[in-house]
Amino acid sequence: MRPDRNELIRLLSISDKQELENLYKRAYQVKTQIVGRTVYFRGIIELSNFCIKNCFYCGIRKANPNVSRYMMTKDEALSSAIWAYEQGYGSIVIQSGEREDPEFTDFVTELVTEIKSMSKGELGITLSLGEQSEKVYQDWFNAGAHRYLLRIETSNPELYAKLHPHDHSWQRRLSCLRSLKKLGYQTGTGVMTGLPYQTIDDLADDILFFYDEDIDMLGMGPFIPHQDTPFVDYLNGFDNECALERGLKMIAVCRISLKDVNIASTTALQALNPTGREMGLLAGANIIMPNITDTKYRENYQLYEGKPCLDENASLCRGCLERRITSIGESIGYKQWGDSRHYLKARG
Ligand code: 5AD
Ligand code: SF4
Ligand code: FES
Repeated sequence: MRPDRNELIRLLSISDKQELENLYKRAYQVKTQIVGRTVYFRGIIELSNFCIKNCFYCGIRKANPNVSRYMMTKDEALSSAIWAYEQGYGSIVIQSGEREDPEFTDFVTELVTEIKSMSKGELGITLSLGEQSEKVYQDWFNAGAHRYLLRIETSNPELYAKLHPHDHSWQRRLSCLRSLKKLGYQTGTGVMTGLPYQTIDDLADDILFFYDEDIDMLGMGPFIPHQDTPFVDYLNGFDNECALERGLKMIAVCRISLKDVNIASTTALQALNPTGREMGLLAGANIIMPNITDTKYRENYQLYEGKPCLDENASLCRGCLERRITSIGESIGYKQWGDSRHYLKARG
C-alpha cells in the first residue's frame, strides 16, 4: 500500500527521545519480521576518484584541486574482489566518480567479466558508477553485474537544482534509474538527509518516490559538509547529533513504510558517531558495506569530512564490523547474496 504522506511527515517529525526510541523499536520489529536479523556484507571497492561532475556537496568534485586523483589498475581491483570472495563476502560494490568515456566503461566491462569468472559466478556484483547510457548499462549487465546503486540525492527537482550546477540533470538521473530497472538490475537509490534547503516534506516525498519507482535497495546517509566544496559554510555549527538522528529516523521510517527493501547502514553514519552503523542496523537497516579499498587510496576518496577507517585495511574493517554486528545480537550472512526481498517478490 502506498504510504500516507501525512503519516510519513508525522513520523519524520518525531523529536521526543522516548518516542524516537519507540520508532526505532517498531522499525526493528518490522525488520526482524520481514527481512530477519542477518546482515549482508557488500565489500566496497573505490575504483577511482576521477569525476566529471561538480556536485556542490562532494569532496571529490572535479573542481577540487586538493585531491590527488587515482585510478586502480585492473589487477588491484581484481585482488580486492578476490579477497572479498575468499572471506565469504556475498557481494562487492564497485564505486567511483563518474566517467562516461569508452576507455573507462570498457575497462569496467572487462573488470566485471573477470571478477565473474574468477568467482565462478558466485560473487554478487553491484555497480555504483553514476549516470551512463542505456547501452553501457546493458553491457555491464551482460558482463555479470546484477545490481546498481544510483542515488537520486533528492526527489525534489527544484532542490536538486540548488545542489548541483545547471548542467547536472535530475531528469536524466531519473531516466537512468528507470533504464536500470527495465534492464533487470536490482535497483538501489537513496538520498542524503539534512541537505541545505531540505524540508521534512521533501523527505516524506523521497519515501513516496522510492515506493512509486518500485526501488529494491536503499543507501541513505546524512549530508556532512566538506571543507573544499561550495557548501563549506555548513561546517560552521554543524550538529553531528542532530544529523545522525535525522539519518536514523529516515532509515526507520523507510523500513516501517517500505518493509521488504534492503537498506544499508552507511559509513556516513559512522563518521558522525563511532557506533553509528550499529545504530543504523537497530533502526532497521540490514546491509553493511565494509570498505575493502587498499589503504593507500582511502585518503583520496573522501566525499565528506570525518570519513572513518582511512588508516585501516580491509581485514581490520572486517574484524571490527564483525564485532560490532555480533555485539548487537545479529549475525552475518556469509556466502549469500542477500538479495532484496522486494526484488525477489516482484520476480515471483
Ligand atoms: N555528505 C554525505 N554524503 C555525500 N555524498 C557525496 N557527498 C557527500 C557529503 N558531503 C554521497 C552522495 C553520493 C554518494 C556516493 O555519496 O549521496 O551519491
Ligand atoms: Fe562525482 Fe558522485 Fe561526487 Fe557528484 S557525488 S561529484 S558524481 S563523485
Ligand atoms: Fe573500518 Fe571499524 S569499520 S576499522
